[in-house]
Amino acid sequence: MYDFESKLNRKKTYASKWMVRNTKNEEYSEDIIPLSVADMEFKVMDEIKDALHKAVDEMNPYGYQAMSDSYLQSIISWMQRHHHVKVDKDWIVLSHGVVEALVRSVKAYTKENDGVIIFTPVYPPFFKAARSNKTRIVECPLILKGQRYEIDFTLFEKQAKQSDNKILILCSPHNPIGKVFTREELARIVSICKENDLILVVDEIHHDCIMEGYVHTNILSFLNVYDQIILCTAASKSFNLAGLQTSNIIIPDEKLRTSYIGEDHVSINPLSMAATECAYRCGDQWIREMMHVVGINYKTAADFFASYFPKAWHSELQGTYLMWVDMNAYFENEDDMFAFLYDEACFIVNKGSTFGKNGEGFMRINLALPTDQLKIALKRLYDAYEKRSK
Ligand SMILES: Cc1ncc(COP(=O)(O)O)c(C=O)c1O
Repeated sequence: MYDFESKLNRKKTYASKWMVRNTKNEEYSEDIIPLSVADMEFKVMDEIKDALHKAVDEMNPYGYQAMSDSYLQSIISWMQRHHHVKVDKDWIVLSHGVVEALVRSVKAYTKENDGVIIFTPVYPPFFKAARSNKTRIVECPLILKGQRYEIDFTLFEKQAKQSDNKILILCSPHNPIGKVFTREELARIVSICKENDLILVVDEIHHDCIMEGYVHTNILSFLNVYDQIILCTAASKSFNLAGLQTSNIIIPDEKLRTSYIGEDHVSINPLSMAATECAYRCGDQWIREMMHVVGINYKTAADFFASYFPKAWHSELQGTYLMWVDMNAYFENEDDMFAFLYDEACFIVNKGSTFGKNGEGFMRINLALPTDQLKIALKRLYDAYEKRSK
């Protein structure tokens, strides 16, 4: 068993998530439990730490670095073992981050005023990426049918048919709603893209984080149908390596790949290469155990909201470790809600409206932390609400 229980204090190491201030711009004490930015309050597995130590010794000096064969093989093997797709090593292109890859894709495949379709609410940098080449953001809001978010296929198809809309950026699984798209949904997306020559850029950064009972379908499993696909992957979310800034962009089509790469040469951080390779070689058990803890945390939080905030609807967590909760029933508006959450409850989560207009009044809770810590944070929320209601 790996350790998912130790309490961390990351303020002393200046972790971004811990450098947060309340809405009055006041610093918090050391005693905070941040539930915001999508990294985990879990130490990386010892195997990765050891691989990093070894790399520090053996790779000195830390000059510009090419991807090694064993690094590429570790990605290929992981994609085969966990995602059942065959990746050719020539398809793998390095990026310092998935967001960078989204921006780069838009720059490579569009011209000014072209449209980039995104399904909202969505991870905020999708908006930035979609307009990064003086392009237009074309929002296709997800619709709530009963208890679940669905793609508005009628609208999406209409947008896809517009010839100046060139790209769909898809988040799969979808952050912040925690949806794992079914194979049928993805097949329909692929088919619409194919019919309308829409390039399909898929951010699968969360694809290893799937809740028990759900199956994630890797977009490359549709390659035999459509090959105008850019798949963005990374070990960063899965293994808590986001600060090392390495992601692997998989582009099977040579022409798309050449345009994506352009004139640039991206060198891999040698330490990050060691960490990522180690994660992909021996992280199978860690990821299973980590998602088991996320499952416990999700149940803990879902039970808490059902008991104490019964009018707070949340989408079902199928993938990612991020819970999406609608708090509109409890607050006048989002500013009031966040003043309460941040200043009174010390319940530090992400603000729904940053994910799109249809996210207003929601909060995104990061569940990747020790269960005891989550319980303390939830109790702080309950106590502060009780105090306010008196
Ligand atoms: C869907 C999604 N894409 C991309 C990123 C960021 O990726 P990177 O740090 O590699 O740019 C995140 C981080 O939370 C994310 O949730």
